[in-house]
Amino acid sequence: MNFCIKTYGCQMNERDSEAVSELLLRHGHTCVENESEAELVIVNTCSVREKAENKAVGKLGVLVYEKKSHPGRIVGAVGCMAQRMKENLFKQVPELDFAVGTHRLAHLPAIIDRVLNGHGPILDAEENDERFDELAGHIQGSISAFVNILLGCERGCAYCVVPFVRGRERSRPAAEIIDEIRKIVAHGGIEVTLLGQSVMSYGRTNPVWPENYVSPMGFTEPLARLLEVVSGIEGVKRVRFTSGHPSGITAELVRAMSELPAVCEHLHLPLQSGSDRMLKMMRRGYTADDYRRSVDLLRSKINGMAFTTDVIVGFPTETVEEFEMTRQFMEEIGFDNSFIFKYSPRPGTPACELKDDVPASEKMRRNKVLLVVQDEMGLAINNRIVGQSVEVLVEGTSLRNQACWAGRTRTNKIVIFEPKPGIKPGEIMNVRIERAMPQTLYGKLI
Ligand code: SAH
Ligand code: SF4
Ligand code: F3S
Repeated sequence: MNFCIKTYGCQMNERDSEAVSELLLRHGHTCVENESEAELVIVNTCSVREKAENKAVGKLGVLVYEKKSHPGRIVGAVGCMAQRMKENLFKQVPELDFAVGTHRLAHLPAIIDRVLNGHGPILDAEENDERFDELAGHIQGSISAFVNILLGCERGCAYCVVPFVRGRERSRPAAEIIDEIRKIVAHGGIEVTLLGQSVMSYGRTNPVWPENYVSPMGFTEPLARLLEVVSGIEGVKRVRFTSGHPSGITAELVRAMSELPAVCEHLHLPLQSGSDRMLKMMRRGYTADDYRRSVDLLRSKINGMAFTTDVIVGFPTETVEEFEMTRQFMEEIGFDNSFIFKYSPRPGTPACELKDDVPASEKMRRNKVLLVVQDEMGLAINNRIVGQSVEVLVEGTSLRNQACWAGRTRTNKIVIFEPKPGIKPGEIMNVRIERAMPQTLYGKLI
């Protein structure tokens, strides 16, 4: 049947949606872009903030309401909310046909068959280690692919629901990852992003390299070794990995990033707060100074290193002074981009025991202040690139303006330019930057 997947949440969810698509295609279903043509609509959900959950519930509500005008339509929810809420999700969306958790996605084709045979609604949110990761999460022909290397999370940040919905931390064997990337390249992939919630814990959870493995560059750390092999795969032009944590910025990782040409000079390094008291309450495991030292180390060895980050405003008991520390710290570091979130209490997390005492209006104010700060910083940083030539991986027509094309720099900035005849997605071209916005560069092909 015709299916369509709508994805909320992080890159791990995007990867899962790609893998689900592949799986359904293999089972004879057809993927359609347009929801109205779909007989099966799957929403891949995120639980990280209440707002993300509300969005998904709203979307599911509309989809099941539309069953009236789309007789026979099947609507399912997969991912983190199914995992977290289980049968309660059916209370919020009564006409839902199935809800399948993060560990059970490999069972989707069978679950859909059971629904089609009249055995719905079905809930499957069991927690076991299904090897769904082995399914290449890659749509054929796409130039950029996400590859899971570390599943789950055990860092236990006080505010975070991820450990509850993604299970215990486990690292995939390097050989399996390398195999998957070879397949991706064979299907036209050029750029790979290695994914893990706290990606620098890769290989610290369980062995991933054979005991007698010798890295040609002499790396002993699992992630540095992986970067070395992945960047050496013929056809891989760009390698990224996310999300970072200051504890993982070791001398070896920095050497890998600086000496391996395919590894891009960009890191997403979530900060969360610039106040040590907040960081401690958040159980982040570093101080502002630790963070600063990680950034300095990378900057000292890698020219043009770009940093992006996540920040939470209004964590319980955060004072105006502590918020100001975050603002100042952000300005000091100079982030290329940042994602600012208002604290949202998540059931079951340690922070949820604390009173959510920063008023919504004050969270909003702090959020706005940081958005302005980020825009100013982003613009100042990008203005310095004006006049320079940058290497762009061409992605395709720009979403906003079909006459223009878009691509990304190695530092992960979007570049908009006029295409030339015969240009193809996946080409690497040089663009001279003529104009900058806080999050976008504009230029001409050279
Ligand atoms: N694993 C990633 C982050 C996953 S969630 C990492 O740790 O790097 C993405 C971001 O959402 C987090 O970095 C944090 O800034 C934000 N976030 C997570 N839980 C939140 C909550 N309860 N309220 C507000 N923001 C939250
Ligand atoms: Fe959540 Fe922290 Fe794990 Fe990130 S590292 S997923 S914020 S617990
Ligand atoms: Fe959201 Fe699940 Fe990712 S909760 S942030 S989609 S791991």
